[in-house]
Amino acid sequence: MTWRNPVLDLIPEYVAGKPAEELARERGLARVLKIASNENPLGPSPHALAALREATERAHIYPDDHCRDLADDVAARVGVTADMLLFGTGSDDAMHLATWAFGEPGSAALVPSPGFGGYPIFARSFGLRPVPVDLPSYEWDLTRFLDAARREHATVVYLASPNNPTGTGLRHADVVTFCEAVGNDVLIVLDMAYREFDPDPDAPDDIAVVRKFDHVVACRTFSKAYGLAGLRLGFAVASPARVRDMKKIRTPFAANGLALAAARAALDDTAHLEKSVRLARDGVDWWTARLVARGLSVVPSRANFIMVDFGRDAAAIYNGLLERGVIVRHLKSFGVPTALRITAGLPDDNEFALAMLDEVLGA
Ligand SMILES: Cc1ncc(COP(=O)(O)O)c(C=O)c1O
Repeated sequence: MTWRNPVLDLIPEYVAGKPAEELARERGLARVLKIASNENPLGPSPHALAALREATERAHIYPDDHCRDLADDVAARVGVTADMLLFGTGSDDAMHLATWAFGEPGSAALVPSPGFGGYPIFARSFGLRPVPVDLPSYEWDLTRFLDAARREHATVVYLASPNNPTGTGLRHADVVTFCEAVGNDVLIVLDMAYREFDPDPDAPDDIAVVRKFDHVVACRTFSKAYGLAGLRLGFAVASPARVRDMKKIRTPFAANGLALAAARAALDDTAHLEKSVRLARDGVDWWTARLVARGLSVVPSRANFIMVDFGRDAAAIYNGLLERGVIVRHLKSFGVPTALRITAGLPDDNEFALAMLDEVLGA
């Protein structure tokens, strides 16, 4: 028997959303709609698709390990130097590396509850102990995180704005106060995966935060508003010294050449980005109004999805929707079995999903 890392017994398997093809096959359904993984229903920018096709010609060549071209583009756009950027296989990869590089094994890592299932996995992988901190009424309260950080001697804190699955976000001023108060021996992973959708003028400016505090690693992604989830590309923004450290331990060529080419084109296509964000925000407003009109409890969302709490186990509702070809996310694995998370889709798809929900609730 080989040695087996004992942390493996502490990590539950990651539960991803059900793929649409799988449901169609399982149930013999003609129409299957997946609004479960907060993807962009418009798809990638047409310019990104063209760049992707062109890049396939170079699929036999390793990509630039330093991702220089994309780093220069992103750096110019967000106002940092290219040495403050680290690209990886999704922002998951960036968060994984940050935890590995700067989380002290054996110590506590604070994770929002409910929150993204990746955080406890990253923490456990490197021998840290995830400590859930509640979001009261699903809203952020950083005083709880500060108390917990001191009580538990945490070395990592994961913050997300907007947060998944609640859609609730942080205020810039509160993040700054927190970073100052918690002290620079605690790494703060500031997960901004849904930042493009956030309409709040007081939303965190992650770049300003990183500039001010060396103990913050901000993470962004091309998976959501940019519509490139299938290509797996995200990045960290941090001080040059931290980026150098994280680069030492990353998988070589983690950001693939096709993704890098598509991302450069996607970044330039601001019209597609704006259209995607508008569609998502209109969709969230549409869902909010209709769910509230049905007397359901909805968490106000700053992202491209909405969390609806039925006040009773939502498994039957989730399954009823599945039977009708609609895949949403049951939040049992997030610790909220009474809730579902619905991604804003195309208007027709939203109508279809709502009609199916009405059928299930009326049934
Ligand atoms: C809050 C949050 N952070 C990060 C991620 C990971 O995104 P990526 O595709 O960039 O790895 C997700 C994915 O759903 C998410 O919800």
